[in-house]
Formats: sequence, structure tokens, C-alpha cells
Amino acid sequence: MSEQAGRYNYERLGEKPFQQLCNALLAHCFPDMRCYPVGHSDGGRDGVLPRDGKPATIFQVKWTSKPLKDPVAWLTRTIKEERASIERLVSGGARQYYVLTSLEGTAVPRRGTMDRLDEQLSAYSQEFGVEMKVWWRADIDARVDSAPDALKWAFSEMLAGHDLVRYLIEGAQAASYDHRLRTLVMKVLATQWEEDAKVKFKQAELTSHDLAALFVDVEAVRAAQALSTRALRSPDLQAKSVGGAARYLLAARQPFTLVRGEPGQGKSTLGQYLCQVHRAAFLKKQAGLEGLPVGTAPRVPLRVDLKDYAAWLDGGDPLEESLPSAGRRTPRRKASLEEFLAYLLRARSGGLEADVTTVNDITQRLPLLVVLDGLDEVAHAGTRALVVKHIDDFTARLQHSVVVPQIVVTTRPNAAALAEPSPEKYETIALSHLKPDLRIAYLRKWAAARSVAGRDRRELERTFHQRSAEPHIDQLADNPLQLTILLYLLHKRGNSVPANRTELYSSYMETFLDREAEKSPQVEEHRKDLEEVTAFLGWLLQAEAEKSSGNGRIGFRELKRSILTYLFDARKNTDLVPSLFTAVTDRVWALTSKIQGTFEFDVQPLREYFAARYLYEYAGADQRRFDTSQVLRHLVRRPYWTNAARFYAGFARANELAGLVEALEDEKDSRLQPLQVLTATWALLADGVFSSRPRSQQRAAELFLDDLSVVLLSIQMRDHHNLPTLAPDRGGRELAAALLSAVDEDPESVMAHDRVRVASRLLKDSPEFTAWWLTRLRAAADRPGEAVWLALAATAQAGNHLTPGAVPSLALEGISCAADAVTAGLAPAQGSAAEQRMVAAVLAGHCSDSSPLGTSPAADLLRVLAPQHFLHKAAPSDKSYLFHRAGTHQDLTVSATQRRAAWQRLVRWDSRLGSVREAAKGGLGQRRTTALWGNTAQAVGAVFGPCWLAAEAAVIGAAAPWTSSSPAATRSRGPGPWVRTPTTVCSFRRSDVTASTAPGGSSSTRTTLTRCHGRPGYWP
Ligand SMILES: Nc1ncnc2c1ncn2[C@@H]1O[C@H](COP(=O)(O)OP(=O)(O)OP(=O)(O)O)[C@@H](O)[C@H]1O
Ligand SMILES: [Mg+2]
Repeated sequence: MSEQAGRYNYERLGEKPFQQLCNALLAHCFPDMRCYPVGHSDGGRDGVLPRDGKPATIFQVKWTSKPLKDPVAWLTRTIKEERASIERLVSGGARQYYVLTSLEGTAVPRRGTMDRLDEQLSAYSQEFGVEMKVWWRADIDARVDSAPDALKWAFSEMLAGHDLVRYLIEGAQAASYDHRLRTLVMKVLATQWEEDAKVKFKQAELTSHDLAALFVDVEAVRAAQALSTRALRSPDLQAKSVGGAARYLLAARQPFTLVRGEPGQGKSTLGQYLCQVHRAAFLKKQAGLEGLPVGTAPRVPLRVDLKDYAAWLDGGDPLEESLPSAGRRTPRRKASLEEFLAYLLRARSGGLEADVTTVNDITQRLPLLVVLDGLDEVAHAGTRALVVKHIDDFTARLQHSVVVPQIVVTTRPNAAALAEPSPEKYETIALSHLKPDLRIAYLRKWAAARSVAGRDRRELERTFHQRSAEPHIDQLADNPLQLTILLYLLHKRGNSVPANRTELYSSYMETFLDREAEKSPQVEEHRKDLEEVTAFLGWLLQAEAEKSSGNGRIGFRELKRSILTYLFDARKNTDLVPSLFTAVTDRVWALTSKIQGTFEFDVQPLREYFAARYLYEYAGADQRRFDTSQVLRHLVRRPYWTNAARFYAGFARANELAGLVEALEDEKDSRLQPLQVLTATWALLADGVFSSRPRSQQRAAELFLDDLSVVLLSIQMRDHHNLPTLAPDRGGRELAAALLSAVDEDPESVMAHDRVRVASRLLKDSPEFTAWWLTRLRAAADRPGEAVWLALAATAQAGNHLTPGAVPSLALEGISCAADAVTAGLAPAQGSAAEQRMVAAVLAGHCSDSSPLGTSPAADLLRVLAPQHFLHKAAPSDKSYLFHRAGTHQDLTVSATQRRAAWQRLVRWDSRLGSVREAAKGGLGQRRTTALWGNTAQAVGAVFGPCWLAAEAAVIGAAAPWTSSSPAATRSRGPGPWVRTPTTVCSFRRSDVTASTAPGGSSSTRTTLTRCHGRPGYWP
């Protein structure tokens, strides 16, 4: 990185090339320019611009590699040293003398180096009788900016950032080192383009596997903001939904992102797609990919499979064409991610030279996108911690790059507290389940790739709709990999599609094998053995990966040897092996060859399916004391095997289910990994593993009733986004009923809120929860127990769908009761005392931390007057971070349409609110004044009397930094809100505001408004 600021890194050029650059610029600016050869004795002139046959203007270049403490002294000294030459040139007719320097000048009037040197130069001008001037670095930058590209390309070493990207794309004629860099980068891009051009899960009959043809942009939600940005208040950083994950990451608002998603949810495919879109810009391809968002410059993408990095750290050579034999394995490495990237560059460029210096050069000069895929595939916890440490170190080093790079790490949900990249720097987004419209979009793309058109496609769509109406099929179809399998089966077998996850994979493999068997008599003949051997290989590769940072690949020779050994040990016919390998093939049934000389399963869930099948059907077959009851316990305990555990349990027959539940109970009692065991057990229930035996299912559901499990579930449901939905008929109803009866027993227990939260989520699509709660509220309404049930309703947001007629007449004693009613989403009868009290709670600021639900006047007032709305309005643009976060006001996302509808209802409810609506709209001529806030506050006060919400709006307007710094702020018309809220403003001015400095140095104000509790009415 340049030691001096600026777009061009002249220090990298060195003295002579810098002089050549200056000559080229001068020649570009002045066509009559005479440039002297660099390195020759030039008599104190590097270039001369003649006029009337005389050397009228002299140019002298002064370069230095380091920033100097006192550039003025250095420059005056060098000019002094040129005294004899200058005097000679002046006597020869020179009238102007220019010094061109790579030094950065400072612009502070009088004290800055630019003004100080000018002073010195004017003294010299007098002394030498020649006008003396200097081109500082910024002057040269400006001339390089306007110079033709060819000139820049000729000095490409000084380029960085987007200029370098342009150079790499366009500067085909570049020379020397950068030419080598260009060749290296372009080769790697081209190789990875080919690798990523197809989806990884390949079905034999798909005519096109092109990623671009099949990709749909899976949506995501923001699970956690990077801690370092938490203090910054920006809608961009705080919004929950981020829309399509690819679109979001291509726009790259945040540099570092952790993408979380369930198996087959599309993490790797997303990484592939992001890289392809950026690569397309370099390789000048489009191939059906969506372009980069307008204004986004391409980044050099590097996609890394983290399992390869782990295997490499372990001494392996995962990217070589053929795996080295065990004897040649190098010792464990402790190498940085940069070293691995150098290794990747060498491997993917076909062996060009690349070392850490090359990588540093790339990372510091080029805008990069590094996709680090599959952190979960690093099975060994220690290796994973090491990998994460290297990622964090790499991230920290990259912050000094010219253009901050983008890093995307992907991983599966992590319930075992395994290492993950620093939450300080990385935000987390979680891939969502596929929504119905995206499923149909995918179906259509899939059908096109399979050349299913016209009536056939419509028939497929019809069957799909029909089957998706069943909740369990619907649940299976929410994941791209499962949806792909489902479509394959629907197309091949019509309606007969299983509703259970393991069976879905089994059916797929069966259909797939039927087809293979039709084609090949060997497969037909050895089908049973082939299935067994493949299951064994699934287990072997999965277990190897866990044991020793394997990467799930097996070399050709080792594959053959493993199959032979297995068949031999099992006393089976080994004839299968030669017939399987008669021709050089890139596919051995379910295994495929992606890197020449090695085999692997297409996608990890297939490997996990076979590993589970091996454990269920074959493992321990020859051992007398093999304890099958232990298998599930070991599987659920290990995070790396969670998905295999789901498949394994899915194989179980009805008479084995009670044993499985017992194993889960034992494992839970051992308290080894409570969250890990809990989420794994939850997944088994959600998959419907126990649904054929209600009693076993009930027992499994009861595993979640203890306090620790309830709290863990409640947190997972509130803050995380990857817990599968537990359908009512898969244990959800039993669990909810048990939780609610525990609440009935002791509604004031500290556990009651967590129990209610979990139960209400389990019953969210059925009226059961509302019915249960409403009965209790009715019984307690207007009595001492009312507050307890209202508080529980607020936790569950239970009143949202109730009509006013269904809401009992409530006392709402105390402001917190009224606030709970608002949070719960209740809409009491119009004109009732309860309605008034809820409005009072909102106006008194007691609901500003809740999301408005329902259409009561209280909820609507919250929608349109919540302080968050005024905070956003006070920000000059969407992206400015105006206020430090203080307190926990909800960041409401109320669309313009919702606001409009809320205002309409409010004005119908009380016509006086029309004036508040007008004030809140703002108007022409109010820009950069506090009028919007002040007038709104005043209008609210005029309707309701002084109230906290009005004061808060006024205070926010007054605290906006630009209103105090801009003279325009004083243009706020009228007496302002202070007339009605004098006490607040006085105390606000006296003590409640602490000036602080926002990032970037702008002055901002921290609002530390405290709310008073308990007093009814609008004013606290
Ligand atoms: N966005 C998508 N558009 C189209 N197809 C997709 C998409 N995401 C996934 N798929 C299909 O599902 C398959 C599996 O997806 P992928 O390997 O990306 O999942 P993953 O989240 O990385 O899973 P794992 O946790 O097992 O690594 C892909 O090979 C592809 O066929
Ligand atoms: Mg993956």
C-alpha cells in the first residue's frame, strides 16, 4: 500500500520510471515538449518547453520513496543544490522553472507545506529572476487522471483499486511484472469460471447444468449486525430482511459477511454465483448471469473450499491433479490464508509462479472478493479454530488495502459453539426457506433445463402445486436441493413422492439407480453390492474428514483399493471392481470426479445420506457386540454428523423408534452438549422420524419441557433463523399443549414467558393458541390477574387477529398494562376507556420499543409518530450514521403505504389529526430546518396536550447536527414546539444531551431521553 495518500502509487514505480511518467504527462500536455533521456547528465533539466527557439520553461523532477517530515526543507534544499544549473538556464532564456514532485503537499492556509513552499519559491523567483512553480503529488494525480489509458497502462505498477481492475480487463498490452500479474489473475479467473459454471448437484437427464440457467436468488435475513457497526444507526445495517442474498452481496454494503444456511440451502451455489458475476466482467462473458448492480465495480473473485484449506494445513495437497501417496505427505502447516491463496493461484493458473508477495500485491492493490465456502466442512474442532483464526488475521490485514475487500464465509447452523469469524467484523445473514414464488421460478428454470415444455411443464406445475398443499411436502420443498430432488421424482414418478426427508433421498437414489441399471448390465447384476459399497464410501469419506482434515475426496487408486478391501473383508464377490472401472470414467455411480484423479460425492448431503445408510444397514454386521443403540447418541453429539443423524433416524423402522427416543433421553441426561443435542433432536422430530408412532413422538416432544430446553428454544426461535418448523402433527401440538398447561399451573412463573413464546410459535398457524389465551384473559379481565395475561399476550403478540368485538372489556390499570395491550396488538372497542389508555401509553412513550400490530388507533399512532421515524428523517441520507444508538427503540420498518393507511384510519378516528398529518409531511421551503419535527410536535400537542412523543420528536429535530451548524436552521417558523414542551426542552438542553463525535468526525448528539413510568395521561 502506498505510504502516501492518493490514487496512484508512485513509490512503487521508483525514481526513473517516475521521471518517465512525468515526461509522458508533460508530452501529453505540451506536444512541443522536449524530454531528455532519463539517467543521462541533463544539466538540471528533465524536460524543456521551448518558445521562439529558446528553452522558455524548464521542468525538473524530484522523486522520493518516503514521506518526509519536512518536505519544504527538502525541496528548498534540492533547488538550492541546482543553483548553478538554474542560473545557467535563466541566462539561456528560461522564464519559468517547474519542480515536479511525488511528495504530498498539505493545504492548510499559511501553515501547510503548499503555502510555505510557495513563499520560499517566490523568494527564489526574485533571487533567480525566473518564475518558479511546483507540481505536488495532487497536481500530478490530476494530470494522470485526465491522461489517456495507454499512458496509465504503461505505468501500471502505480495502479491500484478500480484503475487496476480496468487495467486487468483492458490493458492487454501491459508489460513486465503487471503483465505477469495480469496473466496469473486472468488464468485463475478462467479456470475457476469453468469450475463454477455448472451446478454441483448433477442429474443425469438435465440437458443443461448451467448455473446461470438454474440459479434463483434465495432470500436471506440479517441474523446479526457486525458488532463494530452496532453503534451506527443506519437503516441499511439494521433492516432484518436483506432480500435476495446474491443481490445483497453483489451490492456489498458490508465488507465481511458470514452466510448461514441449512444443508442444501444454497450456500455454495450462492458463493459460486457471486464469483461468476464478478468473473464475467473480467472475462467479458455474460452467459445469462445477472450483471453487477449499477455503480458497482467488479472485484477479483477467489473461491476457496475451506475443507481444502484445512486439508492443506494438515499437510495435504488437495488441489494437485493426483493426490500424493501417504508417504509423501508433508508435516502439518501453520500457514496463513495468504500462503494458501498463493498455493491456490499456482494450482489454478496451471503452475504459474505465485507466492505470498504476489498475494499481498493482489490483496492490497485489487478490489477482491474472497468466498470462503463451507466452514462447517472443516470437521475437526481444533483445525476449524485454526482456520477461523487465520481468517480473522487475514481480515485484519486486509483493512489496509486500497479498496477494502469483500469476504464471504459460508457455514451451516452452529449449535455447538464452534469457532466462527469475529462477530466484531462479520455480519451474519441466514438464508431463508424458499418462498412459493421462488419455488415456481425454480421449477420453471429446472423444467427448461430438462427440456420439459408445454403441456408437460404445466402438468409438472400442477402436480407440484397439488402435492405442496400437503404441509410436509411443502416443508421439503423449501430447500433448493430437496426441491431439485422432489421435482426429479415428480417428473419421473408422477404423484408418488414421499413426505419424509430420508425417504425422499432413498427414492431419488433408487430412481437414479434404476436408470443406471437399464443402461449397464454390470450395475444390474451387482446392484445390491454397489449400493452397499457406496454407502461404505459415504461413511469412509465422512469419517476420514472428521478424523484428519480430509476434504471428502478420494484418489482413484485409493478408491479402487477401498472397494476391493471392503468386498474382500465382507467375503463378497470382487468381480464388481474391474467392471466398474473398465473405462476411464468421470463417474462411479453416485460418486463423481470433479478434480482429475479423485472422486467425491456431488454434494455433501448425498455423502451424509450414504454414511447414515451404511451406519444403519451395514455397520457392525460382522461384530458380535455391536451396540446399535449407541450409534444415534454418537451422531447427535457430533455437530459434523447432525445431518447424517437426521438421515440415520429417518431409516428407522417403527419398532426401533422407542429405542431411538431412549437413546436421545440418555444423551440429553449426559448433558454433554445441551444445545447441540437439543437442536439435533428437534430436527429429528421436525423431519417426522417418530410420526408413525404417536407415543414415541410424544416422549420425544417431552424432551423439550425442562426449563433449560425451553429457554434455549425460546432464544433460538427469537434470534436465529434456522430451526426447522415443527408441524403440529409431528409433536408440535403435544409440546405446545404441555407448555401451556405448565403456564396454566403458574402463569406468574419466571418461565411463563419463554413457555408462551415457544407454544405460540408452535401453534402460529392455528387458532388454538388465541383461543387458549383469550379464555384466560376473559376470565381475568377487569380483575387483578388481568396484567399477567396481558403481559403474556404481549410476549406472544397474541391480540393481532382479534376483532374489537372479541376483546373483553379491560381495566388496563397502570400504564404498563396499556403498553402490553398495544404490544399484544389488541384493538378494543372504539371509544372505550381501554382504547384511550392505550393511546395514552403510546403518547407517553411507553410503546416506542414495540412493533405496531393490528389497526387500533394506538398502533397507528405508533406507526406514524414513533421516535425512530423522526430519527430517520433527521438523517440527511439513508446511509448517514447520524445518531449513536441509545436505548432500544425498535427500528420500525413502516412502508409508505402502511403509513398512508394508518393516517387515513387515524383521521377517521379523530379528524383533528389531519393537521398532524400535514405537519408530519413537511413542505417546500422547510429543507434544513427543524420545521417538520417542531411543527409535528406542536400539532400533536394541540390535539393531545403536551406529551412525551411530541417532545421526543421536537428534541430529535433540535439535536440534528446540521440544524445547529446551518444558519438555515434558524428559519424554523413559528414559536416551535418549545411553547408546549418547555420543561422537556429546558432539561434536554441542560443535561440530557451529550455532544459526541460520530465516526467520520461529524458532530452528533446522543439522545438520552429517560421515560417516566406509571403516571396515566399523556405527559409522564
Ligand atoms: N440458489 C440456487 N439456485 C438454484 N439451485 C440451487 C440454488 N441453491 C442450491 N441449489 C441446488 O441445490 C444444490 C445444493 O446446494 P448447495 O451445495 O449450494 O447447498 P449448501 O448450502 O452449500 O449445502 P451444504 O451445507 O451441504 O454445503 C445445488 O447443487 C443446486 O443444484
Ligand atoms: Mg456447500
